[in-house]
Amino acid sequence: MHGEEIPFGYGFWSLVVVNAAIFVLFALSFLAPVRRREWRSFGVFTAFVVALFTEMYGFPLTIYVLTAILGSRYPALNPFSHASGHLWITLLGGGPWMSAVIHLVSNGLMLAGLLLMGVGWYRIHRARGELVTDGVYAWVRHPQYAGLFLITIGMLVQWPTIITVLTWPALMLVYYRLARREEREAEARFGDAYARWKASVPMFVPRIGFGRGAAPSAVERLDPEALTFAVLRGLAMIGGLAALSIVPLRPEHEIHLGPLLGAFITYKAALFVLLFARPQRARPIFLATLVADLGIVFVLVWFTGGGESHFYLLFSVLVALNAYQFGPGIGVLAAILSADLMAVANILVAPGVPWAHIGARAALFGLLGLALGHIASRERRARAEAEGFNAELRAALARLEEAKDRAVRAERLAAAGRVSARMAHEVRSPIGAIGLNVEMLEEIVRGCPGPMMGDAGDLLRGIRAEVRRLAGLTDEYLTFSRLPRAQPQEDSINEMLDELVAFVKPEADQRGVVLVRDPDPLIPLFSFDRDLLRRAVLNLVKNGIEATPQGGWVLVATRLDGERAEVGVEDTGRGIDVRDAPHLFEPFFTTKPRGTGLGLAIARQIAEEHGGTLRWENAPGGGARFTLRLPLVVNGLADAMAAARPPQQRSGVGRDEAEDSGGCGRGDSPGARPR
Ligand SMILES: Nc1ncnc2c1ncn2[C@@H]1O[C@H](COP(=O)(O)OP(=O)(O)O)[C@@H](O)[C@H]1O
Ligand SMILES: [Mg+2]
Repeated sequence: MHGEEIPFGYGFWSLVVVNAAIFVLFALSFLAPVRRREWRSFGVFTAFVVALFTEMYGFPLTIYVLTAILGSRYPALNPFSHASGHLWITLLGGGPWMSAVIHLVSNGLMLAGLLLMGVGWYRIHRARGELVTDGVYAWVRHPQYAGLFLITIGMLVQWPTIITVLTWPALMLVYYRLARREEREAEARFGDAYARWKASVPMFVPRIGFGRGAAPSAVERLDPEALTFAVLRGLAMIGGLAALSIVPLRPEHEIHLGPLLGAFITYKAALFVLLFARPQRARPIFLATLVADLGIVFVLVWFTGGGESHFYLLFSVLVALNAYQFGPGIGVLAAILSADLMAVANILVAPGVPWAHIGARAALFGLLGLALGHIASRERRARAEAEGFNAELRAALARLEEAKDRAVRAERLAAAGRVSARMAHEVRSPIGAIGLNVEMLEEIVRGCPGPMMGDAGDLLRGIRAEVRRLAGLTDEYLTFSRLPRAQPQEDSINEMLDELVAFVKPEADQRGVVLVRDPDPLIPLFSFDRDLLRRAVLNLVKNGIEATPQGGWVLVATRLDGERAEVGVEDTGRGIDVRDAPHLFEPFFTTKPRGTGLGLAIARQIAEEHGGTLRWENAPGGGARFTLRLPLVVNGLADAMAAARPPQQRSGVGRDEAEDSGGCGRGDSPGARPR
């Protein structure tokens, strides 16, 4: 089909249909569009593919349109042959070589794209709705769309047409927008975990790890230096081969360099695949390819005149590059091997050049290997030292930054704490007095029957309910401002949670919410402050109950996770709105008309007090899930907790004030200290 003997290489409509169908069905099965927007994006892809194959096998519209320009500049062009449809070759020239390179590159891109789509689909499919952040997802956030882009780029490289060139940006745009939308949804669903992953993994183009932006990931990355070396070595060899092939050879030494170059490119491409698949084995791979490269150059030299062949210059490229990469040892070794191979080639092809020539070349290679190797090692040592300093500096900066954040947060908490403590302190006594007076009034009213007195009784009951609520509020404010230090003691967390669930059950029953327990019996006894932790979980459970509509459930689960115990509180409410997410743990942030906005701030403070963490995410089912992770500290390790705990500033409330807080929160527990 590539020959000029076919006068009209088009009109093969069955090929158009079959090829387009294969690509469209492939993409369909992996992208599986469901919603309208997804179908619309998929439509653009379908249009792209159909346009491409229509021109490839059906009717050469682009060539037809461009004939005027192409015809005058490329008189030999036959617009109706399939071969001229390979526009890049027509425009860039280069004949079969160019054709081989273009086919290789484009097929490689398409293959990589198909692979990415397949792998991405497989991971998502296997995860069954959970967030996937490893495997190919540690490289890019949208491997399937990245695959689609690669496939279409491959198509453009192989067979550009006016329609596909114009459609391609639109294709990119619709899939970019689709990806953004999916991210917004995923963010609402997976919360914190998604945001962290998003911050470290790029959208479509993987970071190979150049410079500062490199993201840590589960996949071991190919060292950028190794990658540069592989690219440079490939380029130097291919470029050198191509450059040297310009020099005419004696007729008896003439060989077909085209296929050789093609094979060489394929071998280099395979090397890249191997490097990416086994980045940790880069060094042995490089050394093995050094031997292979030396062998290839030897064969080339042998076939093109032995000692007379000028292809021996390629040895110097190999010596120089490897000396620079691996130091003087490998450099000199490569030089010696090159010299030996040159000598063998000189013997194999009679009459050969005088041995002084070979000796001079060998000496030159040796010097090159030695000198470059030494310079490179020196430079590498200096760089390692500088990098060491740099890393230290960066770590120090990060610590500083973190300390600053903590100080700012602590100061904000402290200020809020001072205000709330003062307020709560001021209003607590009057509230107590009002409560007592209301009770006395109720007694009086009860003693004087009469129609008016019935109404008065109702009013007093209302007042008493509000007074109780106010007392609860002051309690919470005071707790927040003077959270005592944890007094850890060995205890059973499951037992504490059982008791807590029994305690909240009446409230849950009243709201028609079912409380479910899922304890992990493997969690051993460990040290924690029972009262404090109870308060933290209680806040989470109460939030869960408040968020859950009638008929829903709140699950209180525990799980042993290595050295940590996890307490999870999950509900079937509406979940957490992404817009609220950044403020959840801020004191006084609330979306409830009668909320204090202190529950989560207190819970997180308690978690940190125990050397643990409190994280949230939206559960796949729609509700919110809060997870407390606590180190399994055993007896006498309270000091370890203190070490793990961030050095928080005290809230600034004096000890005297705290001690006279009487029955509020933990103020009265023995040994409790104000914060
Ligand atoms: N389980 C949950 N589901 C949905 N939203 C929640 C949940 N827990 C907390 N929130 C959100 O976080 C906010 C702060 O919670 P919190 O600190 O306990 O204060 P409050 O309960 O007094 O509002 C709530 O107002 C609510 O918007
Ligand atoms: Mg709350």
